[in-house]
Amino acid sequence: MYKKILVATDGSSYARKAIDAGADIAKRFKSELTLIAVIQHPMNAFGLFGIEELGSEAYSILKKKGDEIIREGKEQLKSYDLSTHYVLEYGNPGDTITHYAKKNGVDLIIVGSHGYGEVMAHMLGSVSDRVNHHAHCSVLIVR
Ligand SMILES: Nc1ncnc2c1ncn2[C@@H]1O[C@H](COP(=O)(O)OP(=O)(O)OP(=O)(O)O)[C@@H](O)[C@H]1O
Ligand SMILES: [Mg+2]
Repeated sequence: MYKKILVATDGSSYARKAIDAGADIAKRFKSELTLIAVIQHPMNAFGLFGIEELGSEAYSILKKKGDEIIREGKEQLKSYDLSTHYVLEYGNPGDTITHYAKKNGVDLIIVGSHGYGEVMAHMLGSVSDRVNHHAHCSVLIVR
């Protein structure tokens, strides 16, 4: 049913749950699973300026963090025998995730309900909320 699954991770415990859910579903449907992490400068929440305006030092710190998140995700997925891809992108996380999904013919996006933000149990995190509202395909929000 789901040929291409996109799991988004920020490295949080919620994202770890999303990765496990994604791996289980991918196994069941023999889907291709792509893990995506999006890095963004904290001062650039609205994506007003591009990566080239950040300065190379800020960029390399963010890149290092992103690589670490992907490395952890890879480690978590190791035990599942799946066809996997890993993507690190720069930009606004919600928009970047939904754009990537559309461009690459993803049919299911999986995110955690929360991340590293302050948890308000009854509310979704801003990234999961944005993905939920803007995705062209089905979205699974793992709680
Ligand atoms: N930078 C990111 N790259 C990839 N996926 C992300 C990123 N940030 C969040 N996600 C995904 O979205 C889920 C929800 O995180 P979100 O950021 O929406 O919640 P939060 O951090 O609690 O709230 P907020 O960021 O609005 O303060 C995460 O579990 C993860 O699956
Ligand atoms: Mg967050």
